[in-house]
Amino acid sequence: MTTLELTRLQDEVKALARERDAVVLAHNYQVPEVQDVADYVGDSLGLSREAAATNASAIVFCGVHFMAETAAILAPDKTVLIPDPDAGCSLAASITADQLRAWKAEHPGAVVVSYVNTTAEVKAETDYCCTSGNAKAVIEAIPPAQEILFCPDMFLGMWLERVTGRKLNVWLGECHVHAGIRPADIERWQAEAPDAELLVHPECGCASQCMAFANDRTHILSTEGMVKFAKASPKNRFLIATETGIIHRLQKEAPEKRFEAVSEKAICKYMKMITLEKLRDSLRDWKHVVTVEPEIAERARGAIERMVAIA
Ligand code: 13P
Ligand code: SF4
Repeated sequence: MTTLELTRLQDEVKALARERDAVVLAHNYQVPEVQDVADYVGDSLGLSREAAATNASAIVFCGVHFMAETAAILAPDKTVLIPDPDAGCSLAASITADQLRAWKAEHPGAVVVSYVNTTAEVKAETDYCCTSGNAKAVIEAIPPAQEILFCPDMFLGMWLERVTGRKLNVWLGECHVHAGIRPADIERWQAEAPDAELLVHPECGCASQCMAFANDRTHILSTEGMVKFAKASPKNRFLIATETGIIHRLQKEAPEKRFEAVSEKAICKYMKMITLEKLRDSLRDWKHVVTVEPEIAERARGAIERMVAIA
């Protein structure tokens, strides 16, 4: 696409969004041209908060399906659209509601904390949702003697055990993108760029190992946490261990600084299914509407609202 065609398409999206009274929300992993046209770009927690607070009549969610579902639960009076309904998540697919019910039956009385990367049906079986942005605060909000089942991300769970000092029962799910970032990627970069700060997402397979060799230049952060950290830091060079889409956001927010992905292969094919053309079609043709069965939404809402309320 030429620059002129791109600008025209972005203008068309903005005009359609205005006409339809729709707010465009985009996750930090979205392709640059979608991020650039969004009203708000952020992490799972920020996007949930925006969805709950918007005055627009519709939300177009440029992210993966569970995120749009969460928005539909938090804003039941709004129409929620997703440009591609097949944008799934390998982590959310790693536990079903039936599996969670069976696990709960083995641990009567345990409190369930689910990462937001889960289906609405799993959230309906959950006491507290959390995101990478507030997972530590959510665990700390639960009385110390309480048994906790944490699902579905094992690396985030292991990291939480370290930072909270609590024993959790952790489900053995993983995100294929983050699990693919290996300790060797980090070690190579640490050797090659001794002047750089290392920003690591807790879903990474290497996050727990990073904690082991943690030093004052290693920071485990959510995607939005990375943006805030890089902007506030006096340092100029950052190594990024998460999905590479975040680099565009970081470069935009801190143009004078240098950001490098520790693995160029860390690309989420589901996030990349959302294109500017599909976003335009979604607004123009009013598709694809995301709905959650009212009974499921009702049961999931409490856990999601607890997540949004805990900083
Ligand atoms: P954040 O909540 O940090 O944006 O992460 C979401 C996600 O899907 C990570 O893979
Ligand atoms: Fe899911 Fe991983 Fe993609 Fe995030 S990066 S949406 S956890 S598959």
